Amino acid sequence: MSDHNEVKKAEMNYDTDRPQAENPVKIMDLSLRDGHQSLFATRGRTEDMIPVAELMDEVGFWAVEVWGGATFDTMHRFLGENPWERLRTLKRYFKNTPFSMLLRGQNLVGYRNYADDVARAFVEKAADNGMDVFRTFDALNDYRNFEAVVPVIKSCGKHFQGTICYSLTEPRMGGEVYNLDYYIKKAKELEKMGADSICVKDMAGLISPYDAFDLVKALKDNVSPMINLHSHFTSGMAPMVHLKAAEAGVDIIDTCVSPYAYRTSHPAVEPLVMTLLGTTRDTGFDINKLARINEILEKEVMPKYKHLLDDTKVSVMDINVLLHQTPGGMLSNLVNQLREMDALDKIDEVFKQLPRVRKELGQVPLVTPTSQIVGTQTVNNVLFDEGDERYKMVTAQVKDLCYGLYGKTAIPIDPDVQKVALKGYDRGEDPITCRPAEVLEPELEKARQEIGDLAVDEEDLLIYALFPVTGKKHLMQKYGKEKLPEELKPITLEDVKKEEELIRKAKCGDLVDRCVLDTIPDKTEALRTFNVFIEDEYFEVGVDEVGGVPVLAYAQPAAPAAPTAPAPGMVPPPPAAPAAPAAPALAAAPAPKAEPAPAPAAPKPAASAGSGTAVKAPMPGMVIRYERKVGDAVSKGDTVVVIEAMKMENALPAPADGTISAVNFGAGDSVAKDDVLAMIE
Ligand code: CO
Repeated sequence: MSDHNEVKKAEMNYDTDRPQAENPVKIMDLSLRDGHQSLFATRGRTEDMIPVAELMDEVGFWAVEVWGGATFDTMHRFLGENPWERLRTLKRYFKNTPFSMLLRGQNLVGYRNYADDVARAFVEKAADNGMDVFRTFDALNDYRNFEAVVPVIKSCGKHFQGTICYSLTEPRMGGEVYNLDYYIKKAKELEKMGADSICVKDMAGLISPYDAFDLVKALKDNVSPMINLHSHFTSGMAPMVHLKAAEAGVDIIDTCVSPYAYRTSHPAVEPLVMTLLGTTRDTGFDINKLARINEILEKEVMPKYKHLLDDTKVSVMDINVLLHQTPGGMLSNLVNQLREMDALDKIDEVFKQLPRVRKELGQVPLVTPTSQIVGTQTVNNVLFDEGDERYKMVTAQVKDLCYGLYGKTAIPIDPDVQKVALKGYDRGEDPITCRPAEVLEPELEKARQEIGDLAVDEEDLLIYALFPVTGKKHLMQKYGKEKLPEELKPITLEDVKKEEELIRKAKCGDLVDRCVLDTIPDKTEALRTFNVFIEDEYFEVGVDEVGGVPVLAYAQPAAPAAPTAPAPGMVPPPPAAPAAPAAPALAAAPAPKAEPAPAPAAPKPAASAGSGTAVKAPMPGMVIRYERKVGDAVSKGDTVVVIEAMKMENALPAPADGTISAVNFGAGDSVAKDDVLAMIE
């Protein structure tokens, strides 16, 4: 190992004329995908990538990750951007550096398994539009979920990077499931599938430096594809992990340029370049060039995103990951979920139950979406189980998992749990063992008929096939059939300055003084209302730019009438960046308790809570659908309504026999905990 560390001293300079290292570490830059996905809820806009694109192309990265993961969803849903167009645009600036994307196996860039025809068409179009490296992963490490996409990646002549999701069941690598043998076995499976490289994907920052050393060494000894390490900074260990991995002979390391680095993102590239300078693993990068990129981003780009940074705590790391081996995002979801149900005091119980539930559900790796599935089910068990009766409220996703729809779990699912979960499951009570997509009907032609002329090309069709609701909306906007909502438009640096000025003035009381001017101009349609909170005080401020152009191009919640104290049910000030693609940037958090859409039934839930038995919402969420209507007879235990909470669907059973006498909400309505959803008499 000493040869790796030997510094070829003296007249070493930073610039590129230094001698090439024996075995330079290759670097994949993630700033333009995982970087802003991790730090800014994937809100990075193409126009903010262009200022650094050509410089980044000159650095010498092995590849730049610019697409996939949540970008496809977020772009068309929250940014009014066409995902395919981003790929084509960036390709004009990156003339030398290959592009990489994160492909969620059969989930592609969405959240469910798509049919094989959609999967094949998607990969083909991604390759056509400029994608080079397909980093392909599956949340269960079930590589049957790669079988549809890999032959297409290969036939397009592109790079197939097979991924192993890194997971633990105890503080360090080892134990019964996720031990060294497991990872070697998985790597061999990928090699056999034709992987051009293998990625160890440590999405929660769980891997420790010495385990990384052993793992990389073992993989280098056992398989021939290049090894790429992807380790999030979350727990703080990743920079040390990088160094030990470099010593163990890792081929490719993932980093971000410093403004997109650290926190739940990745270590920065610049310290690594300096650390390896002059060693046999010197990257050969020009640190001055990286400094220029840094400067442009800091001055021209970052101010537009600062407000999305989670600034609720000072520390850039989350030591809970070290304590509970729980991915950072999963932890904050659990806390939010419990808080919304007024049950934050149960968090310790949730942590205690989590390993048990995870084991019962097949000891799955904790990565999106499995982390959410295990986390939410644990919360449900802690809150709703009674005595020995466990899994009283099973989410639809747990049912799917038990059915085999996600694939094969690391260990078999507990048969008792499986039986409870699959009771009355609509696909059948016997789980499948085949490749999950085999039970899915082709989807593409059906989508083509549904969307008709609105899809002009295959790329349009795929947006619709992947995201039927928001994808269609995007196509309407793209072809001018619907106006792009203000909140989807970008903000400029000037907007940011104006906002800062506004806040400064509000703090000095200047805005209040304005009211005494003798001539008050008329308010225009462009008037925007803001709630400004200064400690315990609260001001409602109207902003109207001279000339009528809205000052800021994003939505704010409608201001409540109460001028002093926040009214009950009022939306609190926007929290920092949402962890997942959720609310649009800066817009309010959850929608205020929505007026139920003009529905047949009484709009006021409380009003109809007369006689009979109420079906109440056990948690805040959104109504997906009612399975029973007024007049229907129900037996105790029948599903009455399905609500979505924390992205999981929960079927709510009838608490008693009887007839549905009232249905108080409609699909898409937000409901609060204890709202009466239906009445049974
Ligand atoms: Co990542």
